[in-house]
Order: sequence, then structure tokens, then C-alpha cells
Amino acid sequence: MLSKQFIKRTFGTAIPVQPRLTQLLIDGKFVNSVSGKTFDTFNPSTEEKIISVQEADKHDVDKAVNAARKAFDEGPWRRMAASERGKIMYRFADLVEKHTDELANLEALDNGKPAAIAKIADIPLVVNTLRYYAGWTDKIHGKTIPVNGPYFAYTKEEPVGVCGQIIPWNFPAAMLAWKLGPALATGCTTVVKTAEQTPLSALRIGELAMEAGFPNGVINILSGYGPTAGQALAQHHLVDKVAFTGSTEVGYEIMKTAHKHNLKRITLELGGKSANIVMDDADIDFAIAQSQFALFFNQGQCCIAGSRLFVHEKIYDTFVNRAAELAKKTVIGNQFDPNTQQGPQVNQEQLTKILGFIESGKKEGAKLLTGGKRHGNKGFFVEPTIFADVQDNMTIAKEEIFGPVLSILKFKTVDEVIQRANNSAYGLGAGLVTNNMDNAIKISNGLRAGTVYVNCYDVFDAAAPFGGFKDSGLGRELGEAGLRNYLESKTVIIKRPDDSLP
Ligand code: NAI
Ligand code: MG
Repeated sequence: MLSKQFIKRTFGTAIPVQPRLTQLLIDGKFVNSVSGKTFDTFNPSTEEKIISVQEADKHDVDKAVNAARKAFDEGPWRRMAASERGKIMYRFADLVEKHTDELANLEALDNGKPAAIAKIADIPLVVNTLRYYAGWTDKIHGKTIPVNGPYFAYTKEEPVGVCGQIIPWNFPAAMLAWKLGPALATGCTTVVKTAEQTPLSALRIGELAMEAGFPNGVINILSGYGPTAGQALAQHHLVDKVAFTGSTEVGYEIMKTAHKHNLKRITLELGGKSANIVMDDADIDFAIAQSQFALFFNQGQCCIAGSRLFVHEKIYDTFVNRAAELAKKTVIGNQFDPNTQQGPQVNQEQLTKILGFIESGKKEGAKLLTGGKRHGNKGFFVEPTIFADVQDNMTIAKEEIFGPVLSILKFKTVDEVIQRANNSAYGLGAGLVTNNMDNAIKISNGLRAGTVYVNCYDVFDAAAPFGGFKDSGLGRELGEAGLRNYLESKTVIIKRPDDSLP
């Protein structure tokens, strides 16, 4: 949990912004939806409407995909020097950075996360990601291959084509950048469908992209719902690749339906039930603070949240006795109050779902240490909640809650905890708090998870690949690994004179 002093020092007073952009970004212009339909977006702290935005459905998806197709097949984007693409991307990153305060406020307004945190975490990650991938544009290349016979053979790494990118509401701006970065660096064009809960920051970032100089049709941004716009995008016959972040349920659905008309490339970044392990050699205060940050960050709405906390039996009682103290001090409140450490959940649906999980924890016999209720009666706030004596087979130990609910489980040996940590359909992340190097190596090597944090958590960097084992996803985002999903490798074989050197 970030300290109150830190938040105050970093942010001072925040002035909420009034959003201005509500249309769909298609082919370089902001336009109304074909149907003329709109939907409302709400402030999760007050439950009040912020603004109505244009609602895309399959007709708008069709327009946007056609624009992206044309921009890919005929436009200047793929034809310009790779370093020129890089220049536009650097300019884009600079513009986002310059508007950090405004974007952080917009993000906070729409999602409910504390504006102070959006300013120091979310928007800098957007800038970091765009800049990182701007640097890759002119460093993507193939190999020469010494084949048998009188041939000169080489590979080229070419953009996969038109991308359909579907993003969630928990980190709206950062997820947009994670998707745009590798697609743009490789020379692809894209249609992004934002989450219906949080359309606002992406529209402003889209406007900044136009200012940076991306050719028309390269970046298209649609606000709309999953079963309509999302599904139409995932199934569209002119889309070459789909990238999705969201629930495992919808991930499965996309796997089943995206191949209706063509064999799209698919990457998925889905849910998790990440194990966080505290060894008996750990400093208890550090471990308590670390493990609560791992879960409560972003109101618990992180795919990688350390939601199964395994504590060694030797320190278990002390740990559990003290765990509630810190959580109880959390300042819950409006996202624009600089004292706020925890804002509201994103909407009523999430609030209801989380409260349902809390009830199941109580019913199935877990010990409620703190929290357990809605906070107040306006806004979607949930008390930071901790359960102890959680058993592996309880619902709260198996299912993704996506809220501020921490489950503590007791363990005895290293082998046992590796086995129990891995006993999950998910494999997105894991954490470990220890001062013993042997434990650090043995446990991190034994865990089946895409990211393992040792003595830290939620460290995100554009250079470090991110993604899941098992039902947590397919493929990786970020880093060099993130580029691979946006490239097609082409082998060129040229007959050479029989008497030439190989
Ligand atoms: P969701 O998976 O329904 O939504 C994520 C995105 O997919 C949104 O843009 C949505 O409009 C779109 N979508 C929904 N149905 C679709 C379909 N049939 N075809 C194409 N796109 C579709 O997630 P939701 O309903 O917002 O949250 C439900 C749960 O999912 C959460 O409680 C949480 O457990 C998990 N989740 C995980 C996230 C992650 O980062 N891995 C992010 C958001 C939610
Ligand atoms: Mg859904």
C-alpha cells in the first residue's frame, strides 16, 4: 500500500477533468456511430453519469476494419522507413507524457482508481511502453540461412497485418499501450475496442496519436460492448490477428469463434489466481506490507493479484495476528482526494460479484480477519478484506475475485507449497518473500507461472515479458517476446549462380 504522505507529495491537489471526446476514431477522424446509438459511462465513486459516448456495433467495426485494411495494404505506414515509424511513435510517447496529469485524471474519473496512482503508475507505463516499442521499429530483422544447393536464403520479419485488439477496464490506458506498442512497431494497423466501463482515456490518447502524425486508418478506436462490437471484431474476416485481455471465459469464447472466417493469430492475456509465498525467514513487517500491496493494488483489480497468500506455519500465527492492522488503516475514498489509498471498484457488477465471494468465504468456514462488507452506501467501495485459515478447496482459494479480498493459507514445506501453488488452472504470476537464496531459486524455478516476483510485486516494465501459463493465456506481451505475435516470418530463397561462393 502506498503511504499517505507519498501520495500527497506526488500529487498534491487534483482537478478532475471534463471529458471532451465521445466519438469513435475511424480512419483518422472522430465520427458518430452508424446506428447513432450511445451509452453512458459512470464515475464509480458517485455512481453518477459522466458522459454519453458513441456506441460501436458491427457496422462501425466493419468501417474501422476496412480503414485499417486499406491503411495496411495501400497506405504509407508499411512503406515508410522503419526509423520514420519510430519517430512518429516517439512523438506519440512525448505527447502522452506531456498530458500525464490530464490523462491520469481522466483515467481516475472513469475507472475510480486514485488519480495520484494513475499519475505515477498507469500513465508512466503507457509512456514507457510506447517509447520502448518506438525503439524497436528499426531493429526488427531476419537472418541469412546457409541452405544446401546454389541458393541464397534469408528470412524477413513482416507485420502480421490488421489487428483487432480488445482491452479491459482495470488499466484502460496501459492496456491500450501494451496493445498498440508492438502492433505499431512492426508496421501493423489496428482496431482497438475499449472496455464499455472505461472508454474515455483511450479516446484522448487516440487524439494525441493523430497529433503525433500516424497516417489515417493506422489506429482506430471504438467504444462499445463485448458481445456486439467485441465479437464482430474478433470474428471479422479482414482481421489477421486478435489480441485480447480480459476474463478467461471470454478468452475461451474468442478461441472458439475467431476462426469462423479465417485462421487468425490469437494472443490472450486472461485471469489469474496467483500464489504469493512468505517463507519463515522473511521479515514479517515487510512481508505483510508486500503481500497486501500484491493484492490490494488497483482495488484488487489486477489479473496478476497475489490472491492466494501462503504463509509458513512457523510465522503463521504472528503474521495473521498482525495482518489486519495494516489493512484497517487503509483510507478508502473518492479517487480525487489526495488522501485516498483505495478507490471504488469499477461498477455495480464487480461490487456484487466481490460481495458474493466474501459471503462464500464466510459460509465455507474461512476466518474473516477484517473487512467483509461494502464501504458506505454510495459508490462501489469494498472494505479491504482478509480471510485466514483458507483451505485449497474453498471457492475464494480457487476463483478469481478481482477485488480487495486476500486469502491466507498455511503451509509447512517448500515442496508442499510449490505443489499447492501450482494446483490451479491459472498460471499468470506468483510471488515469494524470502531472505534465503536457495529458497528463491528452488521455488521460483518450481512455480508454473509467467512472472515470478521475489521480494517485490507488481513490477511492470515494457522490456519485461508478461503473460500466462495454462488457462491464464496464450503468448506474451511486452519485451521482445511481445513483438513475435505481431510478425510473420517470410523465407526468401534466391537461385544463385552455380559458380558463386555460398
Ligand atoms: P470481459 O472479459 O467480459 O471483458 C473484457 C473485454 O472483452 C471488454 O472489452 C469486453 O467488452 C470484451 N468482451 C466481452 N465479451 C466479449 C465477446 N464475446 N467477444 C469479444 N469481446 C468481448 O470481463 P468483464 O466482464 O469486464 O469482467 C469479468 C471478470 O473478468 C472480472 O471480474 C475479472 O475476474 C476478469 N477480468 C480480467 C481482466 C484481466 O486483466 N485479466 C480484466 C478484466 C476482467
Ligand atoms: Mg463480461
